[in-house]
Amino acid sequence: MIHAVYPGSFDPLHNGHADLIQRAARIYDRLTVAVLNNPLKNDRAFSIEDRLAVIEETVGDMDNVSAERFEGLLADYMRRREANVIVKGLRAISDFEYELQMAHLNRQLNPDVETTFIMTATRWSYVSSTRVKELARYGADVAKLVPPATLRLLNDTLSQNAVARPSHRRRSRR
Ligand code: PNS
Repeated sequence: MIHAVYPGSFDPLHNGHADLIQRAARIYDRLTVAVLNNPLKNDRAFSIEDRLAVIEETVGDMDNVSAERFEGLLADYMRRREANVIVKGLRAISDFEYELQMAHLNRQLNPDVETTFIMTATRWSYVSSTRVKELARYGADVAKLVPPATLRLLNDTLSQNAVARPSHRRRSRR
C-alpha cells in the first residue's frame, strides 16, 4: 500500500495542480494533498481554511484522495502520517533545480521517503498560483486556468483589491 503525499502551498489551487492530483491518484493507493500552514510566514493570499475548502470541493469526490494542513518539516510530517512517497509536479527545467535540492534534503531528513515527479500536463505548464493571482488582481479572466471553486474564491477576495485596467480606447485623430 503506497501512501503518497502531494505537498504545497496551493495559494490557490489551479488546473495544473488539479490535473496532477487526478493523475497521481491513479498511480498511488492513497494520496494526501498536504497544504503548508506556516503561521510564522504571513505571505499567503488565502487562509489555510479557504485553500483546503477549494481542494476539497475540486477533488473531494475521489475515493483515495484527502486533503489536510501540515506544519513544520515535510519529512517529519511524512513520518507522522506513515507516508512513504512525496509527489511533486515538474513544469519545466526551471523547477528542477529547486525540486532536486528539496528531494535530497527530504531524503536526508527521512531516508524512508522517496520523492517522485510527475510532468505537468503541457496545457498547464505555464500556469502558476502566482501568475493566476496577478492576472485576477488586474481583472483578467482566469476561468480557463483554475477550477470553479478557485474562481469563486478569487472573485470574492481579490476583486475587492483589484487594480483598474486601462480601457482600450481608440486613439483620437488629430
Ligand atoms: O507550493 P510550494 O510553495 O512550492 O510548496 C513548497 C512546499 C510546501 C512543498 C515546501 O516549502 C515544504 O515542504 N515546506 C515545509 C518545510 C520543509 O520541509 N522544507 C524542506 C526542508 S529545508
